[in-house]
Formats: sequence, C-alpha cells, structure tokens
Amino acid sequence: MSRIFSGIQPSGELHIGNYLGAVKNWVQLQDRYECVFCIVDYHAITGHYEPSDLRQRTFDMAVSLLAAGLDPDKCTLFVQSMVPEHTELAWILNTVTPLGELERQTQYKDKASRQESVLAGLLNYPVLQAADILLYRADLVPVGEDQVQHLELTREVARRWNAKFGVSYFPEPKPLLTPARRILGLDGQAKMSKSLGNTVGLLEEPEAIWEKLRPAVTDPARVRRTDPGTPEVCNIYHLHKGFSDQATVDHVAAQCRSAGWGCIDCKKVLLESMTRELGPIRERARDLEAHPARIAEILAQGAERCRTMARETMAAVKTTMGLV
Ligand code: TRP
Repeated sequence: MSRIFSGIQPSGELHIGNYLGAVKNWVQLQDRYECVFCIVDYHAITGHYEPSDLRQRTFDMAVSLLAAGLDPDKCTLFVQSMVPEHTELAWILNTVTPLGELERQTQYKDKASRQESVLAGLLNYPVLQAADILLYRADLVPVGEDQVQHLELTREVARRWNAKFGVSYFPEPKPLLTPARRILGLDGQAKMSKSLGNTVGLLEEPEAIWEKLRPAVTDPARVRRTDPGTPEVCNIYHLHKGFSDQATVDHVAAQCRSAGWGCIDCKKVLLESMTRELGPIRERARDLEAHPARIAEILAQGAERCRTMARETMAAVKTTMGLV
C-alpha cells in the first residue's frame, strides 16, 4: 500500500479553509492508504511566535484534526518535535541541497521580503519539510497548489542524495493535489487565513458563523436582489460545494443565475449545510477537550510508531553515508 505523509502548522483551531482545502481530504485518504499526519511545530518556530501559546495551539490543532475525523486506528497522528529524527535528517539533507534552489522558493521570497533580518531557519524550512516526507519514505503527499514547489524541491533532494551515495533508497514523493479549490476568506479578497482575520473557525457555534456569513462578500454583480449572478465567481457558492449535497449545489447555482434567490437566502441554506456537517465535529471536539489525557496518549502513540519507522530510516542513511 502506498504511504501518505502530510503536515499542518499548529495554528490552533482549524478554520473551514484548512478543513475543506486539506483535512476533509485527509479523512477520506486514511481509508485507502497508510497515512502519517504531522503537526509541524518545528516549522512553526521559523517565524515570530509566543512560546507560551505554541503548546496550546498544538493541542488545539490535535483536537480539531481528531474531531474532523482523523482516526488514530486508521492513521498515525503525531507532533513533529516528538520525533527528533526529523531535525537529524534535515541536517543531512542540507548537505545535498543547492542553496540556489532554496533562494528560489516563492514562499521564502515572499516571507523574506517582509522581514528586516532573515533567519537561516526560514531559508531552510523546505529542507525540514523534505526530511518530514523522506523520513517515512512516503510516496504521496496531499497538498495544495502553494506547496507544489516545496514538493519539487523534496524530489530533487531525494534524487541528489540517492545519486551522491549511489543507491535508490528514497522514493521521489508525488504531490496529491487537493481536489477542493482554494477557499477565499469571507472578505472575498484573499485566501482564507488566520493572519488576515477572514476565517470561520471549524468549531464555531452556528450563531457566530451566521454573524460572519451574513455580511460576507458575494458576486459583486448582484447589487440588487433582482440582479442575476454567476455562482462560479462567488465564494459562498464554493462553500456550498464544500458543505452542501450535489442537489443543493445545483439548485443554489440555478437560483443565483435566475435571481430566484437573494444572497441572504443562499447563505441561510449554506448555514444549514454547515451546521449539519460541523455540529457533530463540534461535539466531538468538546468531548476531546474534556479529556486532554486522551489527546496526549494518542499523540504519544503516534510518535512512538513514527520513531520506529524514523529510526530504521536513520540507521540506513547513516550506514550508507559512513556515519557512526
Ligand atoms: N509547509 C507546509 C504548509 O505550510 C506544512 C508542512 C510541513 C508539510 N511539512 C510538510 C506539508 C510535509 C506536507 C508534507 O502547509
């Protein structure tokens, strides 16, 4: 069976953009593949952060992921810093990674251009990501478009290491592009992201979700209630595709095109679909939060399984490289 690896930053509670864009897909993949999912706290420390918040954000992310449907009996969920081999392999991969490739990464250039002094950890971020994936010799990596360049770098690093040591130990992992298109924030301007404050939390109550949905940006062509719209340009329609059944999605599109519904009608139906899907997730999250020892246990077991695999990889890598 092919092995899947993916990682997510410990940003605290998931928002519906992360959920539709990544995690909902992960939940389905765990039935078909051997899956390893990682909360990447070593990546999270490459930017500014509050040490006193990080542990809570990591815990909240674990709660969200489990509540969303990751099942510790079907997949392995763990926290990166609990498996020291990630950083150990990252150092080794640094020795076969061309500096120019790191400097060419779009994400690095974006972030570096906004900082006064750039830290080496930001530049080397994709090397740690390559180590995450190669440590488990994963075949497939479910990611969004924005991670494709990092994946290409991972493939190159694997290729170079294999070539330098004359073995074909590391497979070249392929990206598994997430089917859902990128969810915009409720301002309709940019990708939904916590730092932009345009998100809906996965665990928010229906009333709080409605407060955000009601004023959310729709198709700008629908100025008056009677103006027909184009569903494809409306973020609310894309949320329907994430949360509503196909018949509702088709109906919503027809009502938008014919101006049969106003945007508020459409949003009310979306809220119903969201409540139906997110209600049980919210309940599971409340239950998990009340049992922090269970979360700790799940993460410890996940890390233990990962360490077994990671130790095996490191033993082979070190032997091949002449390390003691
Ligand atoms: N860089 C990824 C992101 O920001 C997170 C990540 C870290 C990751 N390690 C990974 C994703 C390994 C896939 C595989 O989304």
